[in-house]
Amino acid sequence: MSLNHTATAFSIGPIPIHGKLILAPMDGYSDLPMRLIARQFGSCISISEFINTIDIKQGHPHLISQITFSETERPFAYQIFDDNPERMLEGALKLRERNPDYIDINMGCSARNVANRGAGAGLLKDPLKIGRIVESLVKHLDVPITVKIRLGWDVTTLNYLETSRIIEESGASAIAVHARHRKQQFSGSAWWDAIAEVKSQLSIPVIGNGDVKSLADAERMMALTGCDAVMIGRAALGNPWIFSGSQREEQTKTELLRMIESHLHLNVEHYQKIGIVLFRKHLTHYLRGYLTTPQIRRHIYSIENESELYETICNLVNQPDLMENA
Ligand SMILES: Cc1cc2nc3c(=O)[nH]c(=O)nc-3n(C[C@H](O)[C@H](O)[C@H](O)COP(=O)(O)O)c2cc1C
Repeated sequence: MSLNHTATAFSIGPIPIHGKLILAPMDGYSDLPMRLIARQFGSCISISEFINTIDIKQGHPHLISQITFSETERPFAYQIFDDNPERMLEGALKLRERNPDYIDINMGCSARNVANRGAGAGLLKDPLKIGRIVESLVKHLDVPITVKIRLGWDVTTLNYLETSRIIEESGASAIAVHARHRKQQFSGSAWWDAIAEVKSQLSIPVIGNGDVKSLADAERMMALTGCDAVMIGRAALGNPWIFSGSQREEQTKTELLRMIESHLHLNVEHYQKIGIVLFRKHLTHYLRGYLTTPQIRRHIYSIENESELYETICNLVNQPDLMENA
């Protein structure tokens, strides 16, 4: 099965999607540089990090780097989150002015400061509100609206069949299902059977998500659940090759360094001065197995110049006593 082919695999409203693997939205990670790289390897859609519609209203200073996207990323979606339906509509209308292909609503974030105020996965506690939010965005925006959910708030409130039905009936064009409940955060195993249940009751495309760590996993998820596409999150960190079916561990040192150089450079271009600092979290993933002592880590993380950082990384990776593919 080819999961990153060029024929239309499915559609989000009128938008044809040419592939089945999607980089998951990840706050602090799935920014323009990471999305551009994932797209080179076969991720078929770009979705922004989640955007707080309070920040849109107040004009948060970080907003501009969060909302910038490249024309080459189309289809591109903004993902929004909040607990207030009016503010969400206002924020979505504001983002619409920047001409995204569609808008996704986050109903899955488990972080305490988001979910406990009723945003993200907090919305799963109020299915009627979910319906109101989706209906209002569908009514007032001329681009497709999609939603990303979890299975429920906790193991006693697994309401994914109810919420996904409401989401479809309210006019959403697709749904992504992270197959965990909120209380699980990211622990335990994702329950793929729930994705199959959602798929069996909906007509809109269903995107499966949770614990996909390889192309083989993605194929298994699709075979087991019948989902239309697969979203990959954590396994893509420091590992964009996953979208083309290989893994970081399979790359040569030359390819690893090429990728680090290119990602670092995109980060500096996008974020300018703070690009290097913001790249450190990616380095933790790219250099797994190489940052073997606290001293090495401290040294790498203290460098503030792009070429000096890259040169130091080259020296580290090319040390003869380190494993070929650590
Ligand atoms: C660091 C991090 C940030 C995340 N931020 C978002 C986000 O902004 N929006 C969202 O819908 N999900 C977010 N998620 C959840 C992922 O999109 C995905 O649902 C989750 O990681 C499960 O998929 P995985 O097992 O492939 O990682 C985030 C996850 C991580 C690890």
